[in-house]
Amino acid sequence: MAVRKLKDGIYSVGAIDWNRRLFDELIPLPQGTTYNAYLIKGSEKIALIDTVDPTMEHELLRNLREFKVERIDYVISNHAEQDHSGSIPKILEVYPQATLVTNEKCKSMLMDLLLIPEGKFKVVNDKETLSLGDRTLEFILTPWVHWPETMSTYLREDKILFSCDFFGSHYASSELFVEDEAKVLEDAKRYYAEIMMPFMVQINRNLEKLKDYQINMIAPSHGPVYNKPELIVDAYKEWISDKVKNEVVIAYVSMHGSTKKMVDYLFDALVDRGIKVTPYKLTEIDIGELAISLVDAATLVLGTPTVLVGPHPDAVYAAVLANALKPRIKNIGIIGSFGWGGKAIETIKGLVPNLKAEILTPVLARGHPKEEDYKAIDKLADEILKKHKDLNLI
Ligand code: FEO
Repeated sequence: MAVRKLKDGIYSVGAIDWNRRLFDELIPLPQGTTYNAYLIKGSEKIALIDTVDPTMEHELLRNLREFKVERIDYVISNHAEQDHSGSIPKILEVYPQATLVTNEKCKSMLMDLLLIPEGKFKVVNDKETLSLGDRTLEFILTPWVHWPETMSTYLREDKILFSCDFFGSHYASSELFVEDEAKVLEDAKRYYAEIMMPFMVQINRNLEKLKDYQINMIAPSHGPVYNKPELIVDAYKEWISDKVKNEVVIAYVSMHGSTKKMVDYLFDALVDRGIKVTPYKLTEIDIGELAISLVDAATLVLGTPTVLVGPHPDAVYAAVLANALKPRIKNIGIIGSFGWGGKAIETIKGLVPNLKAEILTPVLARGHPKEEDYKAIDKLADEILKKHKDLNLI
């Protein structure tokens, strides 16, 4: 990727990873991603903010070489995860005079993860500044977006916030700035759902902290740069608010069709009651889609047959994932089938301790669902309707 200019003296020098389809061996990346690194030239010093994933190290080095960057005084590390820090050792090798600037927690992690010697570091505290001559970097500790050590770097004179993962999106594009707002927000929401959602409380604190800063541009380390920061800040405010929507997500797996019949019946019953429903067949979905739906849904219903004595492993996965992502859902329903017994419901209940949600009356059919089972599903749909009405969603 060619070097691109944010404004005079401020350049994007990172890499676009068009072909990456999985992150952390867990998160699907249908749009690829970018590892943004930024070069800032002051009248006296030159700083590089973050680096790139080690698989794209050659792109960063080529950009710096072709841009004739002969000196880097400071490498700023906003986050220790390797997609941003992994090329720091190589940069320190190519630019041996550079000092690695980060906070105490991040320093410790970088020493553990990348074996960087202690003598290379300059440790900064919250709101500490570093002069580049006519430009000033201010370091703002913004923990838990995404790890405990994450910080943002604010370029005072230009009012640019370099936020690393915070406000990012896994969206590979040759466009430096946000052009297609709807598309970028779609990918930013996926990113939020998969990576940021467990940290809603901390995100709220960080947004409060950032209110003290005039920000004209947000330059994250994934995805395009926001030259209208309110676009993404307002989206985050909505996603972390307590306002869920009149939506039900049904995540299900069915072995011989009984659970599927119950899911179909519940789907119709909820739609008849004016509720938006999105079903996800767990054996075939992109889990990112499920995560996105969980950002807004008021209710999650898990559908599972009984395998041996417990829920199907795919239903277990969905429950564990939801428990880890900690969406705002208010209600959880469990439906499914069994042959001769088991503890599917008890097991599912035990898998979601992080969710501040009420467990609704479960419906479990023996074998093929019968009239009484469909009646029980109608009751469940009524219960969900009442819960949504009580939340003023309808
Ligand atoms: Fe983009 Fe948490 O790394």
